[in-house]
Amino acid sequence: MSETAKFILNGETYEFPVTEGSENEKGIDISKLRGQSGYVTLDPGYKNTGATESGITFLDGEKGILSYRGYSIEELAEKSTFLEVAYLLIEGELPNKEQLESFNENIRKHTLVAEDMRKFYQAFPHHAHPMGVLGSLVNSLSSFYPESQDPNRGEDAVDLTIYRLIAKIPTLAAWSHKNAQRHPVVYPKNELNYSENFLQMMFSVPSEDYKIDPVVAKALDLLFILHADHEQNCSASTVRIVGSSQANLYTSISAGISALWGPLHGGANQAVIEMLEDIKNDGGDVTKYLDKAKDKNDPFRLMGFGHRVYKNFDPRARIIKKACDDVLDALGIDDPVLDIAKKLEAAALEDPYFVDRKLYPNVDFYSGIIYRAIGIPTEMFTVMFAIGRLPGWIAQWKEMIETKQPIGRPRQIYTGANARNYVELNKR
Ligand code: CMC
Repeated sequence: MSETAKFILNGETYEFPVTEGSENEKGIDISKLRGQSGYVTLDPGYKNTGATESGITFLDGEKGILSYRGYSIEELAEKSTFLEVAYLLIEGELPNKEQLESFNENIRKHTLVAEDMRKFYQAFPHHAHPMGVLGSLVNSLSSFYPESQDPNRGEDAVDLTIYRLIAKIPTLAAWSHKNAQRHPVVYPKNELNYSENFLQMMFSVPSEDYKIDPVVAKALDLLFILHADHEQNCSASTVRIVGSSQANLYTSISAGISALWGPLHGGANQAVIEMLEDIKNDGGDVTKYLDKAKDKNDPFRLMGFGHRVYKNFDPRARIIKKACDDVLDALGIDDPVLDIAKKLEAAALEDPYFVDRKLYPNVDFYSGIIYRAIGIPTEMFTVMFAIGRLPGWIAQWKEMIETKQPIGRPRQIYTGANARNYVELNKR
């Protein structure tokens, strides 16, 4: 017999079905609660609310498990490439050789950005934050490809939009960096792979022959894989909710980029390095900053620590920590900021405040250190996260459209003034 949940409200009993996921996650389906009882559930921050059923990413925060379409993040990180993972997330299966080659080819074909878009860059001030630039430009892609306005236009049209997005995001991102420097943009070279192409658009200059370091390109590909999806987080939920109004995919992704920007989400990688630099410039006393983080009257939080879902460790952080050591060794980098990071991590992991609250370093604690080592400017860190997260956002959007999810529209409990009469301006 299938499980049910009973709610007793004012002596009345209501019964609701229990839904079970493929990894035995259980949820009470309360979608009929309001219709039957007049009550809604209240859950600020959706800490205990399943917004959807989804077959894309599984994570178990207690056990530190993360998998995409059933494949563990550890195995994908070791054996796969970013574009292979992108295909897996979007299409649901690992590609065979022909499928991967055709996917790569479709991406390669679309890496160029319309020349008219270059003029947009000139209008941004050179100090514009690259996340603001990226979000605006991704949104404006919808005006260059009006045929993409209708998310239900058919599989081929949607696929074309997906190829364009994945192909153009590194170009748009690298050009925002060039714009910040007021340097000429560098065009994509399609014989290179995805990460290599991004690196050459970021770092080559007309006067020099830029050599791509394979260690750097591999580390970047790994970081993209680790960021590729993370189920119903703030930005993925934003993409789904914007897309649920049938807004086009470019616009939905642009909304995801905006959601990612905040320091409590993807912006944490920039905030981590800024925090480590502040500690270094302030004499390197990590205890002082731990005390600040513990002080409830001080808004300071230890950036790169804690996670809404992971409560024992972040599996991505484990993989990235090793990659971080490898990259720094291979590049022969001795970074004082890294010494601060190590001291801070060791001290926090022994401190009862952090231990009791299960606050561990998350993926962003280490990703910033790698980005810094490979020469990515701090302001670009969250842009790097956005490039990696794009296939996940697309997969979440596609699943939402294909399963015909209703428009996202939460309820509220109103706590404002009761009905009152309007008072004329001269009598207030
Ligand atoms: N430093 C100090 N205290 C913290 C921190 C922190 N980084 N994170 C959580 N706490 C405390 C918090 O004050 C609260 O204490 P108390 O129970 O005494 O009130 C307790 O731990 C639980 O915190 P919460 O705010 O209820 O936890 P949450 O699940 O709502 O927040 C978080 C998760 C990631 C927003 C939060 O841990 C945080 O702000 N971390 C720093 C920012 C960061 O690194 N974000 C990147 C997350 S990983 C990338 C991604 O997937 O987006």
